[in-house]
Amino acid sequence: MCDSLDKYEKGNAVKEHCILGYILFKFLLPKSDICKFILYHHNTYDVDYIINDIENPLESNIIKLADDISIYNIFNRQASVNDVIDFLNEISYMYNPNYLNRFLDTNAKMAIENVLNESYKENFWKEVDLLNYKVITIEDIILCLAFIIDCKCDITNFHSLSVSNTSCMLGKYFNLSENEYYNLKIGSLLHDIGKIAIPNEILKKEGPLTKAEFEIMKQHAVYTYEILSNLKHEHILNIASNHHEKLNGKGYPRGLSDLTLSEKIVAVADIFVALIQKRSYKDGFSKDKVIEILSNCANKGEIDGEVVKKVIENYDYLEKMNNQLYSLYNDEITLLYNEYNNLLSKL
Ligand SMILES: [Fe+2]
Ligand SMILES: [Fe+2]
Ligand SMILES: [Fe+2]
Repeated sequence: MCDSLDKYEKGNAVKEHCILGYILFKFLLPKSDICKFILYHHNTYDVDYIINDIENPLESNIIKLADDISIYNIFNRQASVNDVIDFLNEISYMYNPNYLNRFLDTNAKMAIENVLNESYKENFWKEVDLLNYKVITIEDIILCLAFIIDCKCDITNFHSLSVSNTSCMLGKYFNLSENEYYNLKIGSLLHDIGKIAIPNEILKKEGPLTKAEFEIMKQHAVYTYEILSNLKHEHILNIASNHHEKLNGKGYPRGLSDLTLSEKIVAVADIFVALIQKRSYKDGFSKDKVIEILSNCANKGEIDGEVVKKVIENYDYLEKMNNQLYSLYNDEITLLYNEYNNLLSKL
């Protein structure tokens, strides 16, 4: 844990997250320059620090300025607007002088005030709405979040993407309305977003978890609920955060038993994908074994029998679809993973 801005900036983890962000955005938005903004967003303006001839755009320095204000606020909760401005002046050599001066001469006080009193949150989604379809769509952002979770958990599986594709296909079999389908798509993509708050040692542990570790792991459903509460969209929130609830009330985190069709679909898709995928400690199970496990869960009243029936009826197609998703991304991921290691070696 780091307790000061100085230590934060000097840690290797900071450089690593710049590279990881660069790699992620290069994958998700290959035609955009956003990845370059991220690669250098902790760099000092006039230091000629270029990795592998990737140019250092001005935008990265603008992100650095905004990032520094936010981080300063995190480490100095009682800070005033003037404290932040003094801090920026102290480290002014880090920023493009034209940009910093223009910022300080015009809207700095208001922008910093918005950060300190958190009123920026109100305008945030309005501004994201403006961005939508011009630079990046909301769906791109959601896909990006799902992908970050998948990379954090296990780079060789695309769990959230697979659960979402499987859920959407099941949703089509049940003739969900357009709205229900859209909610199902977003909710299933984000169902494990709470894993962002689970320690890597547990997420990436090879082999089964101990009882204590499993209790910590279970918290991800609570974190998913807390994170997505910000969306203020009840259906998406429930579809995502109820994926470990069981129809007999023995699931977690809330022990609910009354679930909607979309919630039941994601709960089944989550188990189906986990069973067919290879993990560090197990191979993917055979079709017979997967059907046996799903049927047992349905018979015990844990998951919905009708949804399981649809999975069994369409098993070969669902499995093929998941394999295609894996081969679609696998080569690209291997290339990006090699580039990630190459950039890390240049630090
Ligand atoms: Fe950063
Ligand atoms: Fe989960
Ligand atoms: Fe999951």
